[in-house]
Amino acid sequence: MSKIHAVVLAAGQGTRMKSKLYKVLHPVCGKPMVQHVVDTLDAMRVEDVVVVVGHGADAVRAALGDRVAYALQQEQLGTAHAVQQAVPFLQGKQGTTFILYGDVPLLSSETLTALLQYHEQQQAAATVLTAKLPDPTGYGRMIRNEAGEVMRIVEHKDASPEERAIREINTGIYCFDNQKLLKSLSQVKNDNAQGEYYVTDCVGILREAGEKVVAYEAVDPEETMGVNDRVQLSEAEAYMRRRIAVRHMKNGVTIIDPASTYIDADVTIGQDTVILPGTHLRGRTSIGADCVIGPQANLTDVQVGDGVEISYSVLTESQVADKATIGPFAYVRPGSEIGTHVKIGDFVELKNAKIGKGTKVPHLSYVGDAEIGEGVNIGCGTITVNYDGAVKHKTIVGDGSFIGCNTNLVAPVTVGRNAYVAAGSTINQNVPDDALAIARERQVNKLGYANKLPRKQVKKD
Ligand code: UD1
Ligand code: CA
Repeated sequence: MSKIHAVVLAAGQGTRMKSKLYKVLHPVCGKPMVQHVVDTLDAMRVEDVVVVVGHGADAVRAALGDRVAYALQQEQLGTAHAVQQAVPFLQGKQGTTFILYGDVPLLSSETLTALLQYHEQQQAAATVLTAKLPDPTGYGRMIRNEAGEVMRIVEHKDASPEERAIREINTGIYCFDNQKLLKSLSQVKNDNAQGEYYVTDCVGILREAGEKVVAYEAVDPEETMGVNDRVQLSEAEAYMRRRIAVRHMKNGVTIIDPASTYIDADVTIGQDTVILPGTHLRGRTSIGADCVIGPQANLTDVQVGDGVEISYSVLTESQVADKATIGPFAYVRPGSEIGTHVKIGDFVELKNAKIGKGTKVPHLSYVGDAEIGEGVNIGCGTITVNYDGAVKHKTIVGDGSFIGCNTNLVAPVTVGRNAYVAAGSTINQNVPDDALAIARERQVNKLGYANKLPRKQVKKD
């Protein structure tokens, strides 16, 4: 089997996006377009991937890291010129080279594999992935001779009215015999409507040299769409969202309404979990089995165990262990670790808080920069007073303790194990194990005094 190389073109500014963000970094289902392309290549037997960067080179490098090699295209003189920048990596190598564009995020590894198999089986110099589109506007068109053989590709801007009527388009994804690609690249000229060096011309050049050039038609043309503006971006998003939902459903996840469920590309979900409408699962979120997530749950980079229930809540960069229940209306901020069988109820905010096994924070509390032990009850309205205006301080509550309603825990402060804090206390000293702390004014009852107070007369009839 021959060696496989890949060149991904990602140097363009993407003017049609009208954006400060470089085109290939616009996310589709939470992941930059170019990263989708590189991830797809990862799933294949590709030796080396070279990404050609130019506009926003540093940002693209930061997004992809060192899993690929980079070639810099200083000036964007066209797609052939871009591939030329990768020549130092390709020189002297045998085998097959994939060329892909960084703005084609929906491409699947199945399609890429089928293209490669066809290319190898045909022993072609070049194989173009094509698609038949109802509206081919803007794409390069496949020009075939009477025998149906591929002759060349003509760009939309250079095409005659007859050529524009052709519905078979170039998807911008190719397999080339590496050495033949290199030879043809050096012959590409820029005498066209845009004054650019087109990689599409390599196809015609090879054909004229008597080489075998073929086309492989994509089974699913939508997969090959290029994203050039924000309308296409939303179309790509909708397509990928559907594909992600279908994958999870086929793996045993119930998604009540895929159209109103937003799951990023790299999210994982266990079997028999139910995702209810209005839910967003973002970034590197993972959900275990037998959970009920939603309605209206918004999780970003959260690791959730098995049998967890989360409704109407927002969670970010945190962990939730098995059988915990969260919400409705909880806000879990970064650095929180919620233990097994924990209950986080309505209008509770956690930040950088460890909540031990079986502990309950059922309502109206703020728990920040805290370590709460196991089997603790945090009464309604409890506040960790963690900020003194300059520095954040820590609150510790030991296992089995009971914090009465409306308690202020003025940090830094530690409540021991099995301690009891009376409701309405403001605790600013440590509470020893097994102690009862009461920190509030004693109540005074003035008998009969209420009658002396000026009050509106209540009519009795
Ligand atoms: C290109 C193809 C067209 C095809 C379409 C499919 C050419 C000449 N045309 O057109 O036949 O139907 O894609 O989507 O190849 N880029 C660089 N450096 C450059 C120019 C472009 O890296 O100098 C990169 C861009 O960042 C982009 C990709 O190449 O990721 C394609 O460029 P784009 O301008 O979008 O080409 P299209 O006009 O869409
Ligand atoms: Ca494009």
